[in-house]
Formats: sequence, C-alpha cells, structure tokens
Amino acid sequence: MTTRVAVVGAGIIGLGIAWRCVQRGLDVTVYDAGEDGASTVAAGMLAPTSEIQAGEEALQGLLVDSNRRWPGFAAELEKATGVELGYRDEGTLIVALTDDDLREVRRLAGWYERAGQPVSPLTARQLREREPLLSPRVRGGAHAPQDRQVDPRRLLTALRHAVGDRIVPRKVTDLADVDADRTVVAAGIGTTTLTGLPVRPVKGQTVRLKAPAPPVRHVIRGYARSRPVYLVPRHDGELVVGATEEERGADTTVTAGGVLDLLRPAAELLPGIVEYPVTEILAGLRPGTPDNAPILGALKDNLIIAAGHYRNGVLLTPVTADLVAELVATGVPPQEIEPFTPDREALWT
Ligand code: GLY
Repeated sequence: MTTRVAVVGAGIIGLGIAWRCVQRGLDVTVYDAGEDGASTVAAGMLAPTSEIQAGEEALQGLLVDSNRRWPGFAAELEKATGVELGYRDEGTLIVALTDDDLREVRRLAGWYERAGQPVSPLTARQLREREPLLSPRVRGGAHAPQDRQVDPRRLLTALRHAVGDRIVPRKVTDLADVDADRTVVAAGIGTTTLTGLPVRPVKGQTVRLKAPAPPVRHVIRGYARSRPVYLVPRHDGELVVGATEEERGADTTVTAGGVLDLLRPAAELLPGIVEYPVTEILAGLRPGTPDNAPILGALKDNLIIAAGHYRNGVLLTPVTADLVAELVATGVPPQEIEPFTPDREALWT
C-alpha cells in the first residue's frame, strides 16, 4: 500500500519536501494554515558566503551543499511548472562606505576565505565599474561569486503548482488530528506549539522599492557607518532592501525606526534609490533556533521535523527537500542531516 504522508506547513520548506515525496510515488497531503510565512517576506539571497558566521561550520556545509543543488533544482522546477523563478548567479558585491566599514569588510572577507568560500577584493573603482550607480564615496569591497539569488514568491508559486491539489486549507493545531503513516512538521515558528521544539520568531522588516530599470545587477551587501544592509535587485526593477533583525516575539508591526535603519544605509550606498516609489513595507518572522541551524530528522516514530531554517530557508530549500523526502520514503536518515537532529545538545542547553 502507498505510504500516506502529511506535511504540516505550506511554505517553501513544506512544499519542497511534498514535491520530492510526490516524485517518489508517495501519497501526499499538505496542510496549509493560510497564513503568510517568512517565504513571502524574504528577499531570496542564496548566500553560502556572505551569510555564514563564525562557529557555524556544520551549518555552512549544509548551505554549500544546498547551493550546489540550486541550479538543478531551479531548472527542474521551472520545467515542471513553467514558472520562471528569477534564479540569478551574478554573486554578491560586499560594499564598504567608510574606512572603518572597509576594515570590517576585509576582516569578513578573510574569514570567508578561511572558511573555504572564495571572495575577490575590489577597489572602489572596480566596484563602480561593475555597478556605476554606487555612491562615489564607497571605499572598496569584495565580490562573493558563489552567492546567488532567487525570487521567493515565484518559488512559492512554482512549488504550489508542482504540489497542486494535494494542498488542503486546514490549520493543524494538534498532530493527533492528522491521519497519516508519516507526518512532516514544516510549520516554521508554528513548530513550537505543535512539538515543543525551540523555534522562536526573529523579526525582519524589509522595504520593496520599484525602479524604472534595475539600478544594480548584483546583490549588494553593504556596510555604511557600521550599519549592515542588503539590496536585492530583480529583473523587473523591484529592489528589496533588508532586513532588520529583532527579538520581539511574534510582532509583525512595521516601524519608522526599522525603515530608517534600512533606507539610511541603503541610500548612502546607492543614492538614486531616494527617487523610487516604495511599494511594500513588510515584517516577517524568521524561524530561529538556539544554534541558528535547522532542525531536520525524526522526533519520534513517523514524526519528522523540518523547521528552524532561520536566515537561510530559501537557500536550504533544495537540500532540505531532498534529504527529508529520502528520510520519509526510506525511514533511514541520510548522514547529511545527522548534525541537525531534534535531539542535538545545542538545542537544549
Ligand atoms: N537571509 C537574510 C535575512 O534573513 O535577512
């Protein structure tokens, strides 16, 4: 008899797993609570270089693995659904406004290199040759060629097409109500209420602007008077400016201070943005964990977790979908998820 799989959560992680499970011939139902999750607010940086932090070596390995899977995943999903994902591979330009910012960028670049992620230093002139609309005041920076980007809203649309009418509108409040042979909880910050696992909301505000034409080609990760900001350009002229990082529980208020913290450094680096219309200001809730790494694996028999992807949910979608679908289909955890199991010590200390 075909294994019946329930996926609780219809964000990109839940849908990615569901798609791979369908491809393995499983009988899949996805429960969609009908709430906009982090996927609709995220900018879509795929940044195994410029998102890594010291002390996150296991996570870094997973980010790099997923980044390798992205080109094939994007091509396959686009072919299956006809939805263009906005997948782009120009890399990230890391840009410093002041001498102090440049010292910080050089420190980070050295650290990325030591972590095995190559970056090329760039002078101010080289930066402006690549991106002429950058401020003439920028002091220098670097190129991270392995970073990429995708449009998360298009990704969500494509995955919804791929999973189709297996998605049912229902908010699951108690896993005992789910009738399936195997259940995957991919409910983002809702995972805590369902399972007791430590996934907390980390608020991120973003501003979307609409330029008449893309003002830059690369993702820009800037440092302006010690304030970090990123700008993610889309082909249609949309420019996503992100993101604050706030520990305020499940609060999604957009605030003047949040917008100022984003637009002030963004405009110092790319002055022309002050002319662009603001199209959206949103706050999303990243699903954070105590060690910043996702929770992947069986919590108990036939109850599998795929949650807590924090700042890297979009990048980690392909690897999570592949590995969790393998666990669901075979019952055997792939070795790549061993560092991320729900019982690891770092979640509980
Ligand atoms: N990955 C970018 C962010 O979480 O803001």
